[in-house]
Amino acid sequence: MKIVHAGEISVGVYNLNGELFAIEDRCSHDNGPLAEGDFDPEEGYAVCPRHGARIDIRTGKALSLPAVFPVETFPVVVEDGIVKVEL
Ligand code: FES
Repeated sequence: MKIVHAGEISVGVYNLNGELFAIEDRCSHDNGPLAEGDFDPEEGYAVCPRHGARIDIRTGKALSLPAVFPVETFPVVVEDGIVKVEL
């Protein structure tokens, strides 16, 4: 996982068994720094470091309270070995 910044937007880019996914680095519960928390590569979710909500990195869907809303996801492509996130 790597956090990248583009202007005021921060995005967590995750490698899930060789497939790349990008989600906003902002928890939908209370704006916690989502990508700074743990990542479960077996189940494919990020754990918000602030209050522990689990977010599916593939869909952005909130899997557990206290988050109930999804976070934004972004398409990821690899071109000539460069990872690009479409914002
Ligand atoms: S800010 Fe993420 S669970 Fe509360």
